[in-house]
Amino acid sequence: MEITYIDPDDTTTLRLAFDLMQRAIQHDWPHSMPMDFRFYQASYQRGKPGSEHRYYLAREQGRPVGALTLGLNHKANLKSAFLDVFVDPDERRKGHGTAMLEFLYSEGRKAGRHTFYADTHTELDPDRKAEAPGFSFAQKHGFDIGLEVVNRIFEVTDLSADRERELTERAERSAAGDYELRSFIGHPPVDLKQAVAALTSTTMDEVPLGDLELESQKDSVADREHITETRLQSGVRPMYTVACHRETGELAALTLLFVYDRLPDVYQGLTIVTPRHRGHKLGLWVKMANLRLLRREAEYAQRIWTDNADVNAQMNAINAAMGFKPVDMVLEFQKKTE
Ligand SMILES: CC(C)(COP(=O)(O)OP(=O)(O)OC[C@H]1O[C@@H](n2cnc3c(N)ncnc32)[C@H](O)[C@@H]1OP(=O)(O)O)[C@@H](O)C(=O)NCCC(=O)NCCS
Repeated sequence: MEITYIDPDDTTTLRLAFDLMQRAIQHDWPHSMPMDFRFYQASYQRGKPGSEHRYYLAREQGRPVGALTLGLNHKANLKSAFLDVFVDPDERRKGHGTAMLEFLYSEGRKAGRHTFYADTHTELDPDRKAEAPGFSFAQKHGFDIGLEVVNRIFEVTDLSADRERELTERAERSAAGDYELRSFIGHPPVDLKQAVAALTSTTMDEVPLGDLELESQKDSVADREHITETRLQSGVRPMYTVACHRETGELAALTLLFVYDRLPDVYQGLTIVTPRHRGHKLGLWVKMANLRLLRREAEYAQRIWTDNADVNAQMNAINAAMGFKPVDMVLEFQKKTE
């Protein structure tokens, strides 16, 4: 097998890897949000401050058989590497996945990484986990499940106007006296930049991570601007609604949707309420307001995808109230080699 690094500007090879990955995803993970090549390429070309991603194509006698990626953080998780391994559905059970994994271990170790992370999708029914090739493959290679995540879909038209009003009013009654909402698209307004960067940097400290031993990577305002600019340049609009505490002006809650240019599928990014401001229905309030923003600004949006830890009771309760329906599970694996 020959594994070659893909130059971010080599569109032809990157497209081969992308198409192969899409074939594997459609084959194994039918409940996955469609991916956009424009964004895939732009995020690879522009990179992410403090992180490094390397994409590779695996060939057997010149024929593409696998797509693989290695992710390294340089500000946190300095002993960890994040792996993706996709084998073409017609090329399975020939040892390609194993050879690709060995290659990624070796590249990771060269960068001083000894804990490896990977993920795969499985059916919702826990008894059917073993049917997923990715699960058997990860078990065979000594990975442990660190976190179980439920993948859910919300069809925008499923929420009746009455139910939407009822949920909004329920949140408003609890929150509107002490907090005010602000919505924006793309870069945060100047007075919120610092607070948004600080709040989004607490994600890994605040979301349930199960047994995954991951640290938060702190993003500066400049890092956030770079990330947002990459999204905007590749046709992805980040839509935010935040809640600010009236008395102190503090940023208390934030929710974020990624809206792809003219695509019906929208991805739910982070929703977070700071510990000090929990218990006021701010999570529900910002999500309902962001849904109104989405309807106004992207009338072509049909569904929102979200993935939350199975154990994240508060977030799951909000999603269930809105009408998000579970479609499959994502298993996050971890393997320590030292
Ligand atoms: C998982 C995946 C990469 C495996 O690729 P592969 O080339 O078939 O893997 P290998 O041939 O190296 O398999 C190694 C071992 O894993 C296990 N395994 C792999 N696929 C399996 C399956 N469908 N059922 C049961 N065991 C399986 C077996 O123990 C296998 O050894 P064996 O063939 O000698 O029994 C491939 O199925 C895939 O791309 N799936 C979608 C993406 C994914 O889930 N990636 C893995 C994330 S951890």
